[in-house]
Amino acid sequence: MKIKSLNARRIWDSRGRPTVEVEVTNEDGTSGSGIAPAGASMGTREAVELRDGGSAFGGRDVQRALAGIEREIAPLLVGRDVSDQAGIDAALIALDGTPTKTRLGGNALVATSLAVLHAAAAQARQPLWQYLAQGRTVQLPLPQIQIFGGGAHAGRRVDVQDFMVIATGASSFAQALEMTAEVYRAAGEIMAARGALAGVADEGGWWPNFARNEEALDTLVQAIEKAGYTPGSEVAIALDIAASEFGSKGRYRLALENQELDSDGLCERLLRWLERYPIVSIEDPLAEDDEAGLVAFTRAAGDRVQVVGDDYLVTNAQRVRQAAAIGACNCALIKPNQAGTVTETRAALDAARAAGYASIVSARSGETEDVAIVHLATGWNAGQLKVGSFARSERMAKWNEALRIESRPGAPAGFAGRAALAGRAP
Ligand code: PGA
Ligand code: ZN
Repeated sequence: MKIKSLNARRIWDSRGRPTVEVEVTNEDGTSGSGIAPAGASMGTREAVELRDGGSAFGGRDVQRALAGIEREIAPLLVGRDVSDQAGIDAALIALDGTPTKTRLGGNALVATSLAVLHAAAAQARQPLWQYLAQGRTVQLPLPQIQIFGGGAHAGRRVDVQDFMVIATGASSFAQALEMTAEVYRAAGEIMAARGALAGVADEGGWWPNFARNEEALDTLVQAIEKAGYTPGSEVAIALDIAASEFGSKGRYRLALENQELDSDGLCERLLRWLERYPIVSIEDPLAEDDEAGLVAFTRAAGDRVQVVGDDYLVTNAQRVRQAAAIGACNCALIKPNQAGTVTETRAALDAARAAGYASIVSARSGETEDVAIVHLATGWNAGQLKVGSFARSERMAKWNEALRIESRPGAPAGFAGRAALAGRAP
C-alpha cells in the first residue's frame, strides 16, 4: 500500500510545550499518526530535538522541524510502500545525514517513523501490537510505575529521579495496576497525614517533600505495607537514579544531603540501599560518562538486581553491544525518540536480547495521549514497560491501553510478570 500524503502539525505535550505530530494517509484511505515525546533528563548521545530557539515558548517551538517534514520528508515518502518500515527509516536517516539527527531533528524523524508504523498497521487492519508480533507469541509487559517523582522532574527537590514500584506478585497486567493503584493511594495518604502532600511531579508521582533520599525509600516501603502487600515478594521497588543529572567525571553531588561522593562512594551508597530495601531494579546508577563505575556496580549487584542503562545506552544497538562486551548493565531502556526511528529502536532491543539483557520500553517525562509505546512493548515482547506514575492522563492513557489489549479477544498470551526482570537471584 502506497503512502498518499503526509502532514505535520504542532501540538502540545504534557508540560504544555510544543511538539510534532505527523499523520500519514495511505492510498486506501487508512491512516496513522505519530507524536514525538520529549525528555528532561536527556543523555548527551540521544537523537537531538530540533527546537527553534528564541523567546517564544521558551525557545521550544518546532516550526523548523515542521518545515523540514513538509519540504523534505513528505516529498521523499509519498508514493512509497508504507509497510517497508526499514526502507523508509533508512531513507529518513540518509536524508538527515547526521549521526544524531541534528539537521531534520529527532523529533521530526520519530514522529514520522511512528506515523508510518501506525499507518502500516492500519492498512493491514490489525492492532499495532499484533502487526508488530507477526504471529509470534507475545506477552503483556511487566510495568514499572512511579510513586514519587524527583530529580529533573520535580525541581530537583530530591536527587533520585524516579521512586517506582513493580508488582512482582501480579499474575496479570490488570492485577499489577490494581496493586499499584493501592500503593499510590497509600503513599498519598501517608504524605497527607504528614502534611507533606504538595501536588505531583512531571510524570504524576507525588511531589517528593523529603529531607533525605532514604526518607522516600522508607515511605515507599510503608506505602506498600499500608496497601496490604509484602514488600519484595508482592510489590518491590525500582529506582531511576538518573545519576548523569547530578554527577560527571566521577564526582556526584547529592544536594539533599549536601554531600559530594566519588564513584565508589555512590556505588557503596546504592549497594547499601539494595541491602536495606526491597529493590529489584536500578536505572542509571552512575553517570553516562562513568563507564568504570557502571561496570563495577553491575559486577557487584547485577546478579541480584536489574541494572538498567538509559542515558548510558541511549537506545543505540552499538552502545548496547559495547556495554555487554565490558559487562556494564544487564537491561536496556528502550525509548524510540532517543534512537530517532522505529527501525533503530528495534535494533537496540534486538541487541539487548542478543546480549542476554532484559529490556524496558519507556516513555519520556514530556508525553501526550499517544499510546504507541504500549504496542511496541507488547508486540516486540520487550518484557517491561515504564511510562511514569499512576496519575495524569498522558500516563493513564498508556496503562489503560494495555488493559484494552489484555482484555480484547485475540489478546496476547498472558503477562510477562516478574520473570521479565534481569538479575534476580535464582
Ligand atoms: P526523561 O526521563 O524523559 O526526562 O529523560 C525519563 C527517564 O530518565 O527514564
Ligand atoms: Zn532514566
